[in-house]
Amino acid sequence: MKDLSYKNKKLVFSKTDISSVAKKFKTPFFLYSEEVLTKNYETFSDGAKAAGLIDPLVCFAMKSNPNRELVKILAKLGSGADIVSVGELKRALGAGIPAKKIVFSGVGKTAEEIKFALKKEIYSFNVESIEELELINHLAKKSKKKARICFRLNPVVKPKTHKFISTGNKTHKFGILEKDVLDSLKNKSLWTHSRLVGLSVHIGSQLLDLRATGQAIKRLSEIALKTNIPLEFLDVGGGLGVDYHPDESKSLPQISEYMNLVHKHLQQHFYSKTDLRPRVVFEPGRRIVAKAGIFVMSVLRNKVSENNHFLIVDGGMNDFMRPAIYGAYHGLMPVKEAKNEVRCHVVGPICETTDCFASDRPLPKLKAGDHLVLADTGAYGYSMGSNYNLRGRPLELLAKKNKELKVVNKPQKYEELL
Ligand code: LLP
Repeated sequence: MKDLSYKNKKLVFSKTDISSVAKKFKTPFFLYSEEVLTKNYETFSDGAKAAGLIDPLVCFAMKSNPNRELVKILAKLGSGADIVSVGELKRALGAGIPAKKIVFSGVGKTAEEIKFALKKEIYSFNVESIEELELINHLAKKSKKKARICFRLNPVVKPKTHKFISTGNKTHKFGILEKDVLDSLKNKSLWTHSRLVGLSVHIGSQLLDLRATGQAIKRLSEIALKTNIPLEFLDVGGGLGVDYHPDESKSLPQISEYMNLVHKHLQQHFYSKTDLRPRVVFEPGRRIVAKAGIFVMSVLRNKVSENNHFLIVDGGMNDFMRPAIYGAYHGLMPVKEAKNEVRCHVVGPICETTDCFASDRPLPKLKAGDHLVLADTGAYGYSMGSNYNLRGRPLELLAKKNKELKVVNKPQKYEELL
């Protein structure tokens, strides 16, 4: 059963009738579901355990949605965090995620960020260059600490995904090549106040074809063995996709399939060759939160230019960027079910041609004031938004399990920007 579907012609998101919410709150707004979020996290985490993966640690990729209330829910469920800035680190700690469950990724960590993370004693720095390691080692010495280091390996694989969100090859700024990982281990001066405790890969996002994931885990295993260090953990990154388009539903890897694939490759390339049993770390973002959120908009007006029917809505690319920057498909569902009669370009108010949520999309005839939902917008939605065109950021709402509707981020008034 889908979490977003019609019941008696009314669009319902995990038991919440959207039209009643849209009557109470001014659009546009994001609406999240505690129930879906919880279900997604638990399916992921239980799946890892069921596949026999060792002491799995799920570090939610905060960049996908750092909303405080959502992170609090995940913290209570036992989640860790994958962070890329001191802002995300403070948010994770503030929401109750312990430092010992936090991994810090990113190619551009600043000295201030590193110092703060050292002070908090995070689980690991997922290091993306040798110069970064030098700096961490130096700062650890100054603060009389021993930094826990995980090298993010660049496994040189080519995942099948949009090129803007592919990260595991030589031309990408991410990760360190095998040779540089192994060479650095010989240089004792890099390790006076640092210790290699893990190895990680993250090859890209929105992955539905898992062949490259398998190859990356093979490379991770091989190089982990070549380090000759008893690593505490192997971090297989995030990247597992969701079915944004109905055609993707058939090829969508189930969590059990994904976990079995991780286990199979670790078994074949690591466990069968050593007695070491490092824990397995995951960094999922999208798979946990994309389907736990929708974006509710109102129709402002229709505009028909010869064969082009524009449906102009009050949400814009500043609120939700994915269609504009990746040409991403997202479902569009009117809050009241009706027969599709027109093919529309659904566009926002922003002065950019790419401010378009869908082109030639079959939809019912809608008029000013009707509500329309952009589906699967819980991940990389609000977190990538901006104030472009001097628009305030939208409201975020959470439908709690007890059916209470909670404002989890007030809308920003444009006046605050003046
Ligand atoms: N770990 C690292 C090191 C990452 O860079 C990312 C995402 C993740 C984990 C989580 O990946 P996920 O499980 O969410 O695929 N804005 C793009 C996605 C960018 C992903 C960046 N890194 C989008 O909207 O498709």
